[in-house]
Amino acid sequence: MEKWSVSTTTLAASTAVMGWLLLVVMGGPVLHKVGGSRGWIDHDVNYTEWSSQQHVYVGDWLLFMFDKRYFNVLEVNKTSYEKCEERDFMKNVTRGGRDVVQLTEAKTYYFLSAGGYCFHGMKVAVNVQQHQQPAEPSPAPAPAPSSAAVSPAFWPSIVTGVWIMVAHVKLVLMG
Ligand SMILES: *[C@@H]1O[C@H](CO)[C@@H](O)[C@H](O)[C@H]1NC(C)=O
Ligand SMILES: *[C@@H]1O[C@H](CO)[C@@H](O)[C@H](O)[C@H]1NC(C)=O
Ligand SMILES: *[C@@H]1O[C@H](CO)[C@@H](O)[C@H](O)[C@H]1NC(C)=O
Repeated sequence: MEKWSVSTTTLAASTAVMGWLLLVVMGGPVLHKVGGSRGWIDHDVNYTEWSSQQHVYVGDWLLFMFDKRYFNVLEVNKTSYEKCEERDFMKNVTRGGRDVVQLTEAKTYYFLSAGGYCFHGMKVAVNVQQHQQPAEPSPAPAPAPSSAAVSPAFWPSIVTGVWIMVAHVKLVLMG
């Protein structure tokens, strides 16, 4: 009975480690602070430039830090973004001035600040990408599958997989 519980603990620990490794390998959700250290502010930041330096994936979050006395955050469509049209926005993200929004779809999201600040550049377009598949898509058409083509990033999960198999075998032998 005691041996059982030890093995079960090992198995649980291995599973937890594998989950953690998968998170590290695949990349967990990331919080992107819009505008970097300057935050969401009038004049000071080129948000087009900021956005082009980000790698944003489905499940990530945006954090808008701003003075809510002057600014707000509205999600709009592309047309409204381009025209700085603040009426009939899609979603009001504004709460207290430290506001987050989760990006749940692979598409371009558009945000602006109303009150005329959009015309000064307080608007941002964020291109959200789907997470990469484990096997890197190759630009070459249908390459022959190679047995040696294992991405280096996957070795940790393989090691963990073997570890779990060993734990399983131990469990079966002891049981
Ligand atoms: C912001 O940066 C982009 C890309 O570098 C540039 O094309 C654009 O003119 C800049 N906008 C402003 C208002 O400076
Ligand atoms: C974008 O939103 C505006 C304002 O609600 C609306 O008039 C327009 O038709 C929308 N455009 C698209 C492409 O959905
Ligand atoms: C957005 O929501 C905030 C907080 O609920 C509210 O104070 C503000 O008036 C709203 N803005 C618009 C344009 O609806």
